[in-house]
Amino acid sequence: MNSVKPGLFITVEGVEGAGKSTQLSLILKKLESAGIEIISTREPGGTPFAESVRELLLENRDEKVDQITEMLLMFAARSQHLSQLIKPAIAEGKWVVCDRFTDATYAYQGGGRNLGFELVSQLEQLVQGDFRPDKTFYLDLSVEQGMQRVVARGEKDRFEREELDFFEKVRSAYLRLVESNPTRYVVIDASQSLESVQKDLSLALDKLISSHV
Ligand code: TMP
Repeated sequence: MNSVKPGLFITVEGVEGAGKSTQLSLILKKLESAGIEIISTREPGGTPFAESVRELLLENRDEKVDQITEMLLMFAARSQHLSQLIKPAIAEGKWVVCDRFTDATYAYQGGGRNLGFELVSQLEQLVQGDFRPDKTFYLDLSVEQGMQRVVARGEKDRFEREELDFFEKVRSAYLRLVESNPTRYVVIDASQSLESVQKDLSLALDKLISSHV
C-alpha cells in the first residue's frame, strides 16, 4: 500500500520584470529549511524535450508564429512536463515549485494574444483534467516598471519584444484570474522594496508550510 502523502504543487507567476527569479530563490530556501523535499522547475520547459520546445517558443525569428501554434506548443511542453516530472514527483511526496504554469497561458495567449479564456480552458481540460496548482504566488507590478527592468537586463526574447499594450492585456488577464479564485492566489505587490516583498512572501510561505507539514 502506498502511504506517501502527496506533495504540493506551487506556481509562481508575474508580468515580465516582476522579480520572479529572486523570489523563487527565497521560496526554495524557505521550503528547504522547513525540511521539505522540493523540485524546482519551469515552464515552458522542465524536461529535456519540453526545454527544446521552450527554445522554439522563445527564439527570435523572421517567420510569424501563429497564435494557435504558440498555444498548442505551450500545452505540448506542459503535457510532457506533467507526465515526466511534475506528477511523479508529487506522488513521491515532493513539493514542486514551478516558474510559470497554465495561468501564464491564460494571461499571455488568452489575454495578450486575444485568444480568450475559453480556448485555453478547453486545452487545460484535455492536458490536465482536474489537476491544478495548490497555491500560486502572483507578483504584481505595473507594466511600465516591469519593462524598465527588462530593458536593463539587455537581450530580449520573442515575448519580451512585444509592445506595452500586449503586456497590459497580460496583466489584466492575471488580475482577472486572481479575482476568480482568491483562495488559490497569493498576490504580492512587487513594486515595494525588496525587503517588503520578501517579508510578505515569507509570511505567506509560513502559513502554507504550517498548514501542510
Ligand atoms: P520566463 O521569461 O518567465 O521564463 O517565461 C518565458 C516566456 O514565456 C514569458 O515571456 C511568458 C511566456 N509564456 C507564455 O506565453 N505562455 C505560457 O503558457 C508560459 C508558461 C510562458
